[in-house]
Amino acid sequence: MSKTWFITGAGRGIGAEVAKAALAAGDNVVATGRNRKQVQEAFAGVEGQLLIVELDVTKPDQADQAVDAAVTHFGGIDVLVNNAGYGQLGPFEENGADDIERQFATNVFGLLHVTRAVLPVMRWQRAGRIFNLSSIGGMVGYAGASVYCSTKFAVEGFSESLAMEVARFGIHVTIVEPGFFRTDFLDQSSVRYGNKSIEDYAEASRETRTTYDGYSYKQAGDPAKLGSALIELAASQEPPLRYAAGSDAVQGIATKLDSVHAEINKWRSLSISTDGNF
Ligand SMILES: NC(=O)c1ccc[n+]([C@@H]2O[C@H](COP(=O)([O-])OP(=O)(O)OC[C@H]3O[C@@H](n4cnc5c(N)ncnc54)[C@H](OP(=O)(O)O)[C@@H]3O)[C@@H](O)[C@H]2O)c1
Repeated sequence: MSKTWFITGAGRGIGAEVAKAALAAGDNVVATGRNRKQVQEAFAGVEGQLLIVELDVTKPDQADQAVDAAVTHFGGIDVLVNNAGYGQLGPFEENGADDIERQFATNVFGLLHVTRAVLPVMRWQRAGRIFNLSSIGGMVGYAGASVYCSTKFAVEGFSESLAMEVARFGIHVTIVEPGFFRTDFLDQSSVRYGNKSIEDYAEASRETRTTYDGYSYKQAGDPAKLGSALIELAASQEPPLRYAAGSDAVQGIATKLDSVHAEINKWRSLSISTDGNF
């Protein structure tokens, strides 16, 4: 039986590829984006059951309206892909309050708004799948990505907890943790850098920028293959809580877990020394 997918940020990058993979699998797709015309152009000539709806995830009212439109058109939502997001990079102190608030408004609050709009539909259905786009940076911190990583760590904590709250309704949550994928993510059309210049950070800041600029469109991950992987996960009877995408993500997260484990063991006796004798 065909599924109905609701995808945020579907006009380009990973969102567009997931949408195309779902359409190719014969599923219905609600492709949402903040620029309706751009989303229409992205799907020009693509065949399938497609509904395009305007949705800037920072606007909760638009999320409600987009979900209503999806349900009216297709009768329900089986798979939500919270994909919309971007990277606010550069050393923490070089980012202003506006940069940080905008990053959280999109990557965290936007994801929460859309999830809040979709959950009543899935609870009513007593079934649903949610894919929340985190990142390797949702499990591993990186210098020059403190603001971005803080949003993706928030996505991880939210998703892990939500998964426990909604499992009883037949709703599965999977956190998607891509490594570096070849999209517009590191291009100036998406990525943002803090623009406060602080001499102490000048060298580190330059290095971060040069590294990421040099890596743009050279990333190893293929977003079309990630699209196909999500189709497979959506069909799985026992989808994982976390899905690391790409060998860089698998390696980076495994190394991080090893180091957390080693640190826990090293400091175990001091850690447990705080238990009270009440
Ligand atoms: N590519 C990677 O290496 C990588 C790695 C780890 C995680 N991710 C995550 O994967 C997701 C998709 O990124 P991508 O690689 O596909 O990047 P991308 O090519 O830059 O696409 C980003 C998408 O997010 C949308 N978006 C941004 N702000 C939005 C808003 N307020 N409302 C609605 N849509 C909004 C963009 O829409 P517009 O076209 O309107 O700007 C665009 O469709 C993001 O959450 C990102 O953090 C990517």
